[in-house]
Amino acid sequence: MSRVRSLDVQVGDWLDLAGTLGKGSVDFLYVDPPFNTGVRRRTPPGAGRAGRAASASYADSWPTAESYIAWLEARVRATVRAMKPTGVVAIHCDDRASHRIRLMLDRVLGEDRFINHLIWRYGLGGSSARRFARKHDDIIVYGMEPDGHYFDPPMVAATSRRMRGMLKKATDVIDIPAINNMARERTGYPTQKPEALLSMLVGAFCPPGGLTVDPCCGSGTTLAAAVAGGRRALGFDSSEAAAAVARARLASRARA
Ligand SMILES: C[S@@+](CC[C@H](N)C(=O)[O-])C[C@H]1O[C@@H](n2cnc3c(N)ncnc32)[C@H](O)[C@@H]1O
Repeated sequence: MSRVRSLDVQVGDWLDLAGTLGKGSVDFLYVDPPFNTGVRRRTPPGAGRAGRAASASYADSWPTAESYIAWLEARVRATVRAMKPTGVVAIHCDDRASHRIRLMLDRVLGEDRFINHLIWRYGLGGSSARRFARKHDDIIVYGMEPDGHYFDPPMVAATSRRMRGMLKKATDVIDIPAINNMARERTGYPTQKPEALLSMLVGAFCPPGGLTVDPCCGSGTTLAAAVAGGRRALGFDSSEAAAAVARARLASRARA
């Protein structure tokens, strides 16, 4: 198998493509895998500018929570050799699996490598009569060496009256709205994440000029954010349709 190029999107299983990454080459591995919701993920009806992504969908169902974690663990293990000693691994998930993913990363990377359990509070979603409404995702972050990882603290607008108009270091609760149906960045790909979220994560955990890899890249949000921020980016996705959307997105950025 040939080595992957930078600023590229490859079609295939993350497990196979991990072996094409150069040893010790990756600064930031961000993974937004299927969440094991038990349903096939499709573009929701009425999603604005869906274009070619409207026909894209992906399977999101494993027989058990254990088999889902085993699937993820095999792929993380296959990627460890490609990480730099200063590298960072972030796995995006929700409360269905965050506790299991944290234990899996303790096993694979070591509990002393834990950096953050980030909460992405997006505000969308229905209310419930039976529980508190679920309105956040979890992003579990580990470094490759204890306290040896790259980190450039993101700055956000201060909200207190005393600091009005000033910036402060972001906390582990990130308030960024989910992409609305008519947003310009919306590709129509199911479960697309906002570029502002990925810009913050890439800026924090990947040095300028460094390499960010997203092995379940979907519509290419991470790649677009990385390239816009002066980082190199590689994406994998098992879906041809996802890769087509991501490539078109990157190409339109290159033309702009
Ligand atoms: C949650 S979506 C990613 C969405 C993406 N973050 C975005 O903003 O568009 C998960 C992606 O993982 C891909 N995927 C599922 N199994 C995979 C595998 N074994 N290897 C690589 N990609 C896979 C799916 O095709 C889907 O595009």
